[in-house]
Amino acid sequence: MTDAVPILEMRNISKTFATIKALSGVSLRVWPGEVHALMGENGAGKSTLMKILSGAYQADEGGEILIGGRAVTIKGPQAARDAGVAIIYQELALAPNLTVAENMLLGREHARGGILDRRAMARECAPVLQRLGVTFGPATLVADLSMAERQQVEIARAVHARSRILVMDEPTTSLSSRETEALFAIVRQLRSEGMAIIYISHRMAEVYELSDRVSVLRDGTFVGTLNREEISAEALVRMMVGRDLSSFYKKDHDAHMSRGPVILSVRDMGDGKRVHGCSLELHQGEVLGLAGLVGAGRTELARLIYGADRRASGTVVLDGTDITPKLPQDAIAAGLVYLTEDRKHLGLFLDMTVRENINLGVIARDSRGAGILNGAAARARSAAAVKALSIRVSTDMVNVGALSGGNQQKVLLSRLLECKPKVLILDEPTRGVDIGAKSEIYRLIDDLARAGVGVIVISSELPEIVGVCDRVLVMREGVIAGEVGGTTGTPITQEAIGAIATGASHGLAA
Ligand SMILES: Nc1ncnc2c1ncn2[C@@H]1O[C@H](COP(=O)(O)OP(=O)(O)OP(=O)(O)O)[C@@H](O)[C@H]1O
Ligand SMILES: [Mg+2]
Repeated sequence: MTDAVPILEMRNISKTFATIKALSGVSLRVWPGEVHALMGENGAGKSTLMKILSGAYQADEGGEILIGGRAVTIKGPQAARDAGVAIIYQELALAPNLTVAENMLLGREHARGGILDRRAMARECAPVLQRLGVTFGPATLVADLSMAERQQVEIARAVHARSRILVMDEPTTSLSSRETEALFAIVRQLRSEGMAIIYISHRMAEVYELSDRVSVLRDGTFVGTLNREEISAEALVRMMVGRDLSSFYKKDHDAHMSRGPVILSVRDMGDGKRVHGCSLELHQGEVLGLAGLVGAGRTELARLIYGADRRASGTVVLDGTDITPKLPQDAIAAGLVYLTEDRKHLGLFLDMTVRENINLGVIARDSRGAGILNGAAARARSAAAVKALSIRVSTDMVNVGALSGGNQQKVLLSRLLECKPKVLILDEPTRGVDIGAKSEIYRLIDDLARAGVGVIVISSELPEIVGVCDRVLVMREGVIAGEVGGTTGTPITQEAIGAIATGASHGLAA
């Protein structure tokens, strides 16, 4: 590889946002035909570096970007595309009311006498879609596609534009394992065709499986690059956090011994569509997992319990009182709180500060709190939360929208804790969260359980479910299909959960 030219070389890249030094003097070399993973803790600067490459941000003076050995200036997104760079953000950037072909050709549509020539467009796009092995055609409306399929459209667009560098920022966070496999197959194919893929991920297993090399950022600086044979979890963690992470956090409370009375009882919950007749009981101080494949109805069930969606049937009893909430506010007022998996759209106020966002929870609990968002108590509360969850901010007066993804998740979690919940439902609580912060969140769940809070954890990561839960309900096709742990006598293992989730075993009746 030494005599070849890297397809991408970023030299001495720095970026300052107001007072935050997001990147200082970062360099990165990427070769054609490699999957180059980019890792680092939340806020390390990964997305910022890639946004500079894709023209979304301008780097500070003094840096250089070379593509194929030639220096380029990337003034904006179009310049990046012209230079052969394509980026797929987590919030996909497609127009939902246009077709696949229209999205792939956006800005370069075929027009004959001012009319879109759909047939020519389809002819042009079909071979690319075929080559990628996707199951939809060029005339499909993007609005009708799943998240995973929309991602494939973005990849097709990059391939069609003859991009030589494809950046994917945490592409698998909302994919099922099957969809992830399909994505990996496409990535491998593109690699074999000589494309360079820069792949941002917090998931160690993915990085192992997919990448040829890994570069690590820490606090806006470049730490180093590992070759395939040098990659190990220990080495990466040491590079990411700057020390050995002695032991990954293990569950410390034991609900079988100390499990309290029933705190939450849900009966016959259903929406008449995707969730049917779900009943469950949660004890004080218990951590109950809700597992199942993506699409099994876990989030839907949680939203019904919380009053966020319309119920066809079902009651919710909290601490002996029927609270069956009409609206989420009713649930919060009663002490039942839900952490959404969709923090961008439902959870945070991106143009309010960290302090305000954290204190909004107090208002939800106690309306007399209104107007105190910036008082002394609010400042103290926010400072304590920032410390407790190690939220990385220079000051809590920055807007949440400017935080890295993982730090946004921590702010949302802090806000919920300010509601002083009796029952907390956490939907994918560690999505997009780095390895150190994951450990902190597990510790927090444990502390809450020991303080008597009932916790329900929804997660697609089985090791997470196995690691933190006392008992696990497994959903399949909208019903609770089985149970492990607790008093069932079946230990909580990935195999046992997987068997119930896929229908290979029926488990014990819940
Ligand atoms: N538009 C912005 N305005 C102000 N600060 C920003 C902006 N974008 C990013 N930052 C700051 O730059 C730093 C790096 O953020 P970045 O999003 O690049 O991190 P990341 O490595 O992608 O983290 P994560 O794993 O959480 O996604 C953070 O401190 C973040 O708050
Ligand atoms: Mg990021």
